[in-house]
Amino acid sequence: MAVRALARVNLAAIERNVARLRGGLADGVELCAVVKGGGYGHGALPAARAALAGGASMLAVATAGEAAELRGGGIESRVLMMGAVSDEELPVALGARCELVAWTGEFVERLARSCGESTAPGGPVRVHVKLDTGMGRLGTRYPDEALRVAERIADEAPALELAGAMTHFVSADEDPAFTSAQLGRFEPFVAAMRERWPGIVVHAANSAATLREPASHFDLVRCGIAIYGCDPMNDDPAAHGLEPALELTSYVAAVKLARAGESAGYGRRWVARSDTWLATVPIGYADGIRRALTNNCDVLIGGRRYPLVGTVSMDNITVEVGAPDAVRCGDRVTIIGPDGDERQTAEEVARRVGTINYEIVCGLTPRVPRVYHRDGTPA
Ligand SMILES: Cc1ncc(COP(=O)(O)O)c(C=O)c1O
Repeated sequence: MAVRALARVNLAAIERNVARLRGGLADGVELCAVVKGGGYGHGALPAARAALAGGASMLAVATAGEAAELRGGGIESRVLMMGAVSDEELPVALGARCELVAWTGEFVERLARSCGESTAPGGPVRVHVKLDTGMGRLGTRYPDEALRVAERIADEAPALELAGAMTHFVSADEDPAFTSAQLGRFEPFVAAMRERWPGIVVHAANSAATLREPASHFDLVRCGIAIYGCDPMNDDPAAHGLEPALELTSYVAAVKLARAGESAGYGRRWVARSDTWLATVPIGYADGIRRALTNNCDVLIGGRRYPLVGTVSMDNITVEVGAPDAVRCGDRVTIIGPDGDERQTAEEVARRVGTINYEIVCGLTPRVPRVYHRDGTPA
């Protein structure tokens, strides 16, 4: 039966990706699976469960709502909320037993006040201090300030517990020299923190650094994109032994003749030069197919590539199939994933529009049903 638009997610692939990434870590180094942004578009809860099954020892999200969703789904593992915590999010984050990130004394005070004097029901709130070694977003740029923040957290025991020290890399995917410079700023801070609090967990690496820079692994790596089988360098995931977990498909809803001079889609951005045949595929930008892919992408049908022609509209794309019998109504159309000997990766789609695979997978909208399986067996 033809399905309008479908994202099939192979949970076994996520498990294997996590296991493979862990295989590249020294003994004792743990993996935190980043499942923010709805598990990078794959579905936060199923992705979280698969990552834990694959050997992740904790999860990370960006927002309190994302943490609450995990708890609502029965996830009991440690959950790090990596983002800034707004006033409105703080009670939600505490209710979800999040570990939090701090870089100012004011935040530690706000947190301690919210927790009250006594120990929270799930034990102390674990707090990680963030040094900004170059990202220029969250965290303090000043190691002295970060150490003072750490002291304040430690002073708020038993409500708070100083759990970790962290930073985040700017360009581990493309600029190893800058990653080394960031490490050069982070390491003296780590040494000072470890001397004072030997039990803290130190973490810095994202997927790219996990794959490319063993010196960045410390006690824990925080991997997002790679657990989904996407390449953090936006190249070929297979080069790192990663298996893309997500396939995006639709179907041929109509096949029609376009005579020379006739067009397809809004704005007549594609006009047939000679008589040809078009397939209409009912998936569009309301599903996450970027409009910038207009006249600028392929799809796979029956193991062959065909060009997307004409404007991507909200609910449809058109594909030039050339001949009346090339494809049939009901045929499956693959936008991301394999079909026979062909495949199109999220990385390739991303390159077409000058973006990164992250934005392509995160950009799949809720209108696309996610269906879960394990190597073809319904999950
Ligand atoms: C602080 C932090 N750590 C780790 C990650 C995971 O990054 P990646 O998906 O490149 O592995 C992210 C994601 O952007 C992040 O914001």
